[in-house]
Amino acid sequence: MTTSPRPIAPATGKLGVLTVGLGAVATTFIAGVELARRGMAKPIGSLTQMGTIRLGKRTEGRAPLIREFIPLASLDNLVFGAWDPVSDDAYRSCLHCGVLDKHEHVEPIRDFLQGIAPMPAVFDQYYVKRLEGKNVKQGRTKRELAEALRKDIRDFKAKHGCDRLVMVWCASTEIFIQAGPAHQTLAAFEKAMETNDVSIAPSMLYAWAAIMEGVPFANGAPNLSCDVPALEQLAIDRGVAIGGKDFKTGQTMLKTVLSPMFKARMLGVAGWYSTNILGNRDGEVLDDPESFKTKEESKLGVLEYILQPKLYPELYGDIYHKVRINYYPPRGDNKEGWDNIDIFGWCGYPMQIKVDFLCRDSILAAPLVLDLALFFDLAQRARLSGIQEWLSFYFKSPQAAPGLYPEHDLFIQHTKLKNTLRWLKGEPVISHLGVEYYEYGES
Ligand SMILES: NC(=O)c1ccc[n+]([C@@H]2O[C@H](COP(=O)([O-])OP(=O)(O)OC[C@H]3O[C@@H](n4cnc5c(N)ncnc54)[C@H](O)[C@@H]3O)[C@@H](O)[C@H]2O)c1
Repeated sequence: MTTSPRPIAPATGKLGVLTVGLGAVATTFIAGVELARRGMAKPIGSLTQMGTIRLGKRTEGRAPLIREFIPLASLDNLVFGAWDPVSDDAYRSCLHCGVLDKHEHVEPIRDFLQGIAPMPAVFDQYYVKRLEGKNVKQGRTKRELAEALRKDIRDFKAKHGCDRLVMVWCASTEIFIQAGPAHQTLAAFEKAMETNDVSIAPSMLYAWAAIMEGVPFANGAPNLSCDVPALEQLAIDRGVAIGGKDFKTGQTMLKTVLSPMFKARMLGVAGWYSTNILGNRDGEVLDDPESFKTKEESKLGVLEYILQPKLYPELYGDIYHKVRINYYPPRGDNKEGWDNIDIFGWCGYPMQIKVDFLCRDSILAAPLVLDLALFFDLAQRARLSGIQEWLSFYFKSPQAAPGLYPEHDLFIQHTKLKNTLRWLKGEPVISHLGVEYYEYGES
């Protein structure tokens, strides 16, 4: 299918990237961009920086870099701002989180990192039990607090001479909240902000403020945030790109690669036990059962959608699926994720697969923040408003239009993303049919 290219406003001028939270993920992302700009590290893991895109037939040999194919903001044009209830600047936070090597990657950019101090956050310990912070905004109502965020956004844009902004939630996981009456319409949502309704979490106030200011919003944690009808509609009405939830980095990324393999080969799954040990602040926050519940929901949904037990009851109708996260300080940000998968094959014979992923949480998440910032800015310039399902590739629990089930398979998500880029540029999308390469007889 070839279409005419979609008009895309140029990526000129500065792009301000506002992160909610200035912890491990946000600082690893910011420092990594600065190191890449100075030629001191490579942006490995980032599709926007390292990926290519095939155009046309396999015989044409056209595969430009994505960033040369489609207009994306360049790393040199990024400026950074953040909110956090902990007042550490990006330098102190980097040292506290201990992800990057102090001598090789933090000290050389100390001045730059010290220049990024967090703005006072909209924070309430009711929603993140295991965290305390003093760098917090005061206001009588949630509406007032959200209006203060809008002012921060405008002030940041003016102060740094930004052409455009994008906001990425890199803050802690809040307690589990289900969408209720206050989230259904904008009128109900705004009333709930004014009456300090408990169902309006800080992450929703940031999302509302971003949308009201015309700033695209991507949610890297499993909190509902912009995943409620009122904010989805507001984003469409105001022409703003939104999406989430929860960066897909470690164990769930593996799950969304392995489970499509089982389904493709019609192998059964009897059980999937996943456990993690993690010692960073995120692990500490997730040690609280109410925050863990939010994460658990996000991690558990994946298998159900990919394996489709209703279509394949004999293969996937009775899976025992368990996910655990254990806070274990000695490991810091270096998470270890174990998976034990009990599968069965021909004549029902059982087999096992064990995965032990010794990963680095923020090293995996940082390039996702970069890609999301650049692609959400692209979406905004291409006037793609509302949910950006084509960016499901980055999320554990992707938002999709009402009535659609989310697509979790990593490689379907990857194809969808690249086809969206082709479609934006008026290039034929690639179906992988490939009959044109063979001489079949007339039918
Ligand atoms: N690293 C990964 O692989 C990964 C994957 C998926 C999701 N996530 C999510 O990304 C988020 C960040 O992870 P991290 O490792 O950087 O955690 P972190 O604890 O190091 O950083 C989170 C920061 O958010 C701040 N914060 C909390 N509430 C806030 C609020 N209301 N406003 C502004 N700041 C607030 C905290 O003070 C903290 O500094 C977490 O929710 C985590 O679950 C991470």
